[in-house]
Amino acid sequence: MDQLRQQFHRDGYIILQNVLPLDEVQVLQREADCLVNFLFSEGVDIMRDHGGIIEPTKCGYIDPPLSQLTFTSHRSFCALRNMVTEAPDTVIPILFGRLSVLAANFLPLSDPNYPLRLFNEQYIVKSPKSEEESKFDWHQDSQYMDSWSQNEFPIISCWTALDDVNQSNGTLLIEPFPRPLDSLTGTPLDLPEGLGRPGALLRYQQSMASAYTPAYTIDMESSIRNAAKAPTFSVPSSSPSTTGPSTLGGFSNTINLNDPESWTSESRPPVLVEIPMGSTVFLSGFVRHCSLGNKSSRFRRAYMPQFSAGEVMKSTGQYVSMAVSCNEHAH
Ligand SMILES: [Fe+2]
Repeated sequence: MDQLRQQFHRDGYIILQNVLPLDEVQVLQREADCLVNFLFSEGVDIMRDHGGIIEPTKCGYIDPPLSQLTFTSHRSFCALRNMVTEAPDTVIPILFGRLSVLAANFLPLSDPNYPLRLFNEQYIVKSPKSEEESKFDWHQDSQYMDSWSQNEFPIISCWTALDDVNQSNGTLLIEPFPRPLDSLTGTPLDLPEGLGRPGALLRYQQSMASAYTPAYTIDMESSIRNAAKAPTFSVPSSSPSTTGPSTLGGFSNTINLNDPESWTSESRPPVLVEIPMGSTVFLSGFVRHCSLGNKSSRFRRAYMPQFSAGEVMKSTGQYVSMAVSCNEHAH
């Protein structure tokens, strides 16, 4: 797992194949279909009105929660969430089982003040033949938080394919973090130490994000032509660890974020994600990505919970979205 964590930090994302078994994929597929059908029956155009984004507890399928507690307490959230599912405790074990356990490996959770939280949850559905309207332009998921929150709380998005995804049905295109190089010698630099701490991780990820070329210079079509094939990994057979720093190694020098003159960077080609259903792309809040339109004649479904290290608040003290404890005993 250390090697996967190192790869995630270096690239800003990692793809794990076959994270969910078929029966769990089918649970999520049925729920996505149920919510799409409900919205359709209500006269909602999911692409035009929702941009293809459907939040299970907030899309109108169930009444709004009576208490704010549902967005912080594990028990209250599960009770609300089970009102959406076809049968109780079918989605909860997926969300707070495999997906949160894997996500925890890529977040800095050594500080008890920054506990693992469910930050957001959504299905992203692209209607058939919606090539133009179902595209998402280049962005970073942290852009949807205000700048104060971006500087406080690391987040990770767990984009899980519920259909086999490819270039024609609307998959992701990811631009990995630029490669940091020694200014004098041009040799690649290693990750900084201490990425198990929220402040250090955010500082590193923001430095990598600021080294990207401006987004407006990147044309989606030429990016597809230049795209490399994404390296994928199978889910490790041993239990994923939720603690411990990365084992850093490979290059002789580490990047010195305190001395911007000491390093430069080299941009890397975008990566086209072609993966089977049940596979997950874990994305840092700062990695740049876009999503292609769906040219195919079938729906393209993805499920994307997001987790955070800490309860993501605005500077005003309000929650940005949710901050649900990932287990019943956490407070
Ligand atoms: Fe995104």
